[in-house]
Amino acid sequence: MRPKHRGDGPTYDEADLLRRARAAKGRAYAPYSGFHVGCAVLTEDGRLFEGTNVENASYAVTGCAETTAIRHMASTGYRGQIVAVAVVGDGDDPVTPCGACRQVIFEFGPEAMVYSSGDGGRPLVTSITELLPHAFGPKRLNQGRAETD
Ligand code: THU
Repeated sequence: MRPKHRGDGPTYDEADLLRRARAAKGRAYAPYSGFHVGCAVLTEDGRLFEGTNVENASYAVTGCAETTAIRHMASTGYRGQIVAVAVVGDGDDPVTPCGACRQVIFEFGPEAMVYSSGDGGRPLVTSITELLPHAFGPKRLNQGRAETD
């Protein structure tokens, strides 16, 4: 895959991002589902954050790989934009972010590219706007808040 350049953001190689997500997958904590997921998040200033799914004996408390990576990013104080997200999961087909993760990606990366892969085959290349059309996010929230203040 050829390196991508997005606006003023960093040049990146999507194959490299997917490799980082695949490496993260190896550190997943998934004793209940046995389904391992890794994620790599690239920011506009060129930083990279990784995450895995972290399951819990109380199943509903499980965290997805994407939210783990993005919460780590945000907890470092980073408030810029996410440029690209790579997700890799067990099995042949690409793993696209679940619905909740799409919302979390949109919060910090309303224009983010999303690269999804499984263990083999061609990655699926898409974007958060395609995965979460007509999304509700901070801009719309602030519009409503300005009107009522
Ligand atoms: N999972 C993720 O980490 N990301 C997704 O986008 C899809 C699902 C995890 C959650 C759970 O640990 C396992 O995959 C099975 O759902």
